Amino acid sequence: MLRIPLKKARPGMILARHIYNSNGKVLLTAGIQLEEHYIKRLKALGISSIYIHDKYTDGIEFIEAISEETRLRAESTVVKVFQETRENRKLNVKAIYSTTEHIINEILKNKNALVNLAEVRAYDNYTFAHSVNVCVLSVITGASLGFNKAQLRDLGIGALLHDIGKTQIDPALLNKVEPLNDHEFEAIKKHPHAGFEILRQAPEISLLSAHVAFQHHERLDGSGYPRGLKGKEIHPYAMITAVADIYDALVSDRPYRLGIPPHQALDTIAHQAERTLDPEIVAAFTKNIAPYPVTTPVQLNTGEIGIVVDVNKNYRHRPVVRVIFDPELKELPKFREVDLSKNKDLYIAKVLTPEEFPIVSESSPQVRREDPFAELRPAENKVVKDSLV
Ligand SMILES: [Fe+2]
Repeated sequence: MLRIPLKKARPGMILARHIYNSNGKVLLTAGIQLEEHYIKRLKALGISSIYIHDKYTDGIEFIEAISEETRLRAESTVVKVFQETRENRKLNVKAIYSTTEHIINEILKNKNALVNLAEVRAYDNYTFAHSVNVCVLSVITGASLGFNKAQLRDLGIGALLHDIGKTQIDPALLNKVEPLNDHEFEAIKKHPHAGFEILRQAPEISLLSAHVAFQHHERLDGSGYPRGLKGKEIHPYAMITAVADIYDALVSDRPYRLGIPPHQALDTIAHQAERTLDPEIVAAFTKNIAPYPVTTPVQLNTGEIGIVVDVNKNYRHRPVVRVIFDPELKELPKFREVDLSKNKDLYIAKVLTPEEFPIVSESSPQVRREDPFAELRPAENKVVKDSLV
């Protein structure tokens, strides 16, 4: 399976992963053959990339930090909790606890897995998918720092609901695509405090979780908001969530732009660790993320081109690569796999963009199904975008 920008999608390609709408409902099922009008609709929904089957990545398997079922359940909990909060109803603490508990248990079970790949979502559920990702990444980092279950729970709940204060901000402002003026940015900057107020009023939620919402935009050097806290004034849970928040925003596709690849996002974060983020927390975060996740197209120092097919936690920069093309881009008669952790003369010289990797999609006869977008029509204009704050 390969991730390709939607503009490279062609009728006949086979979708390799489900595509979901904002309520966690499957819009397009994995295995379906793309047709021109599906591609058009995906474009209209703001989806920037998709996964397709191709002959080069056949048989690749990888473990994800949490199962698809847990991820979808978590997303729908976040959707509901945000909705209820906006309508001024009580926080559904039971659902929040059980969702976080599921996530923690799965992460503790898969402790040795590297975080591999980003989900492909319609951008109207960015806030919800992002909230779950930030929770997952934060819990993984906390587990790696040796936190116990109670600590992971407070961290996980805070991370899952770090942006709940956005429910108190005018959606028109959150959805604005044009640059914000000072006045508008000041209004957005109120969401950490609003989130703190919502969470601290729920007696079953730890004050520490509420502080995660309050402090997730604070930065080590005092340049953050809302209070300009510095250094140790920022709680480690909030700093972990800040790192996860920045990372996920960088790698996620947003309306009309693709996310940046993980190795670049990790570089950006490492750079920030010098001034605005806690270097120890960044180190704990980084060691759990695959800089070259499974299915990344890469060029080796020999000029040969291939795809990452397995990652190794002890040698994160030296994954297993399936070599497919020679330096002249001629397909090899037989693909071979090289484990870069064992072949020290070889290394990844470059991560290829989808434009640079020759995609040959696999197509097979598929049963045509009813228009998968039919049920989506009434809600299609209900797009809730998110700003990068
Ligand atoms: Fe935020």
